[in-house]
Amino acid sequence: MIFTLILSVTLCSISQGLDNGLAVTPPMGWLSWERYRCNIDCDNDPDNCISENLYTAMADAMVTEGYKDKGYEYVNVDDCWMEKERDANGTLVADRKRFPHGMKWLADYMHAKGLKLGIYEDFGTFTCGGYPGSEFYLQKDAETFASWGIDMVKLDGCNSNIQDMEYGYPAMSLFLNQTGRPMLYSCSWPAYVVFSKQIPDYKKIASYCNIWRNYADIQDSWDSVRGIIEFYGNDTGNFSLVAGPGNYNDPDMIIVGDYGLSYDQQRVQMAMWAIMSAPLLISVDLRNVKPEAKALLQSDILIRINQDANGSMGKRIMKNGAMEIWTKKLGFDFKGMAFAFLNLDDGGGPLRVNMRLYEIGLTNTEGYNVTEGFTGEFIGVLKPYDVINASVNPSGIWLGMAY
Ligand code: GLA
Repeated sequence: MIFTLILSVTLCSISQGLDNGLAVTPPMGWLSWERYRCNIDCDNDPDNCISENLYTAMADAMVTEGYKDKGYEYVNVDDCWMEKERDANGTLVADRKRFPHGMKWLADYMHAKGLKLGIYEDFGTFTCGGYPGSEFYLQKDAETFASWGIDMVKLDGCNSNIQDMEYGYPAMSLFLNQTGRPMLYSCSWPAYVVFSKQIPDYKKIASYCNIWRNYADIQDSWDSVRGIIEFYGNDTGNFSLVAGPGNYNDPDMIIVGDYGLSYDQQRVQMAMWAIMSAPLLISVDLRNVKPEAKALLQSDILIRINQDANGSMGKRIMKNGAMEIWTKKLGFDFKGMAFAFLNLDDGGGPLRVNMRLYEIGLTNTEGYNVTEGFTGEFIGVLKPYDVINASVNPSGIWLGMAY
């Protein structure tokens, strides 16, 4: 209550929203959580524990394995990086054993490679993993992150409540802005509102946050990916409409290259995250990615769809049982389109889809150059009444592009 009052007073003086010029297109990078969780056992698992070694190794692989050249730039630390206590001045401290050089050193390491460093905190009293939260320390933590040279802040919402978030997330936005250091601001705020069975005020959220989590954590499974796609397809609260340069909905990390998805399912995730204009934050061991997964993660066509400058979020335009059609307008003139036939069923054989172009919104009578989205193979110049024939594998996708 007192916290809410203090923040209400602080916020009365806020006139500007988020103004950091970041996330013009969806951010691309790497994030440790899904793959590495809160593994702090560096004695027994030194190559995979949450430590500076993990993040420098990922940064190195991001460069040497070609990810950086494709546009991946943020290396993001998630939970469990801190000491369990702040120091005597109330400043956050990175775990002294696992991050012996400290966070400023790690940020310098990233910057020297042309990369960026992201960090994780929580708006509540503790992080989800039980480390010190930012409640009552928002401004101090924003200043600490700026002094370390941090480039992205993910602010989680465990151990708090959604009433306080209404003030706290905007306050952190202000404090980040006031540091003068551009730090991309990732808010978990709406996800907690959704968990409370309410509909978030997405316009308000978009005025304070660059990207935001709307829904549950991704797990390394098809069930999880399918559930997320369904949530975003339902678009409850019309969050798709607030996406655009500077603001993106975040359906959570990319798990292509991990353990849980078949090749078809990996194609689904990568193509759907491209269509949804989602942040592409991969949570995989970049030192060790199978060639077919790496080809998806580095696909020029999928990245181009994701990074399209108009920044609109693709939408589900049709649903018939497990078969869905999604489209994303492309280009500043909105004349191009990426379109997907998605088969969310995980049994049986391939489904046949025969669609006329106009049925998916391609109505320009001059026609379109149509290509297959994964290979770029030219299908033909098609007019609105021409038919696309596609075969869509179980838990699979057929992707097309029309210009
Ligand atoms: C929450 C977030 C995850 C991750 C964990 C860390 O569950 O949604 O993305 O950051 O906390 O504890």
